[in-house]
Amino acid sequence: MEINVQVGKLEELKAEAVYCPVFEGNKIEPDFAAFDKKTGGTLARVLSTGDYKEGQTTVVYLNGGIKRAILDWYGKRRFDAEAVRRAIGRVVNKANELGLKELTLVYPKTLPVSQAEEPTVAMVEAALLANYKMMEYMTTLDERQKSRLKHLNILVANRAVGQRTEKGAQRGRVAAEATILTRDLANYPSNYLTPTRYAEIARSEGKKWGFKVQVLTKTEIEKLGMGALLGVAKGSAEPPVFMILEHNAERPRLDTVVLVGKGVTFDTGGISLKPADKMDEMKGDMAGSAAVLAAVGAAARLKLPIHLVGLMPVTENMPSGTATKPGDILKALNGKTIEIINTDAEGRLILADALTYAERFKPKAVVDIATLTGACRVALGDICAAVLGTDQRVIDRLKKASTQTAERLWQMPLYDEYDQLIKSSIADVKNSGGRYGGVMSAARFLKKFIGDYPWAHIDIAGVDLEEKGQPYVPKGATGFGARLLLQFAENWAKRS
Ligand code: BES
Ligand code: MN
Ligand code: ZN
Repeated sequence: MEINVQVGKLEELKAEAVYCPVFEGNKIEPDFAAFDKKTGGTLARVLSTGDYKEGQTTVVYLNGGIKRAILDWYGKRRFDAEAVRRAIGRVVNKANELGLKELTLVYPKTLPVSQAEEPTVAMVEAALLANYKMMEYMTTLDERQKSRLKHLNILVANRAVGQRTEKGAQRGRVAAEATILTRDLANYPSNYLTPTRYAEIARSEGKKWGFKVQVLTKTEIEKLGMGALLGVAKGSAEPPVFMILEHNAERPRLDTVVLVGKGVTFDTGGISLKPADKMDEMKGDMAGSAAVLAAVGAAARLKLPIHLVGLMPVTENMPSGTATKPGDILKALNGKTIEIINTDAEGRLILADALTYAERFKPKAVVDIATLTGACRVALGDICAAVLGTDQRVIDRLKKASTQTAERLWQMPLYDEYDQLIKSSIADVKNSGGRYGGVMSAARFLKKFIGDYPWAHIDIAGVDLEEKGQPYVPKGATGFGARLLLQFAENWAKRS
């Protein structure tokens, strides 16, 4: 979608459709009210008859240069990034329903000029994210069905606002495109997105935005001694990869932060095979790693002054004659032995080796993100992700970023006592703690493999998929975490 900031007045605008926010008491912006008065008062009539009700998205046909106004309920007359995102999301969906190619948003005069950047970020993020639909595999759609908005115009009153709006639009685009990459990767079927193809995509992202990408092959993974990752990959015909991404690798004086993402391109459960129902969803079991790739790419694109490292252990989890079996013992990169109780608890295994590897960077913080446990979905549903860790300051930074991007996090406890659930009688630790307290026992497992650094873990099983569709989150992979990790990195770089 093209975004175009335009200085001008509503009265002189030629447009297919303009979004008009409706505030409490069915009030509209003074600019809109003045414009409406001059053009026949259609909006005033719709709003005063009582036909328009709170919460509705309504199309009103106008005379003159602007063909349609799309009314959408905004609520209280105060800036709230998430209210903006949801409203714009609904309006973009309406425009797409109508088959429109262009939409105009108006930067309201009531908001201060100096703060024009932040609302624009939210507007542009939502517009791009609501416009997202993966259609690559739908061969029978005609052009109209495939039709999406192509142009987004942002009308501003003067050049001063315009400049800030341009900046905000740029930042919004970077965040939205990171989320879109994450969605695409998680939506791709596993017969397309093999570990090998994933590595090609990471390499091309690295070239595009100028960050370093190193891909370790199976032989190199073996040489390093990543026995936990290899144990998961063992049943698959597709070789695993371990990817190391680095933004600002050549600037040693910057703070180093490592992001680690689970990259299981398909999780059958292995020998502890999952039931058939909804198993297809497990093509998205690499969503954490996708968010990491996208966040590092976005940080590079924004040239954030931070040494941001992304670690992506990537493999399938398959049952076969060569697969790891329950009762087997694996030796992880840090030398610890793991008794495999359930081959479906594979995410923590591949993360274990990545968390050990992270130590080489002597990081100021390590954050891992993973579709790790069904227990997380049971506990929190699809409303928020779980966050746990050893360092409250890192957790608080994540919570702060999460408030900014409206990708919610809820902290769960990392009490020592949960270790009892993963005690093995034959090895250093076992990989499954059973059904109860699954989010915590998984995190306690990970904790055994971290190095001497502040660490936080995000479990996104539950929020990675949208089942019905939300204003700017269509059905399918949500891309959760990309904007959150980018915001976290940006705040860190700005020391805010
Ligand atoms: N990828 C799954 C977790 C998952 C489940 C993510 C549902 C998204 C939706 C993970 O690898 C898994 O299978 N976890 C097991 C762990 C158990 C065997 C200890 C689980 O949660 O059942
Ligand atoms: Mn699993
Ligand atoms: Zn999994």
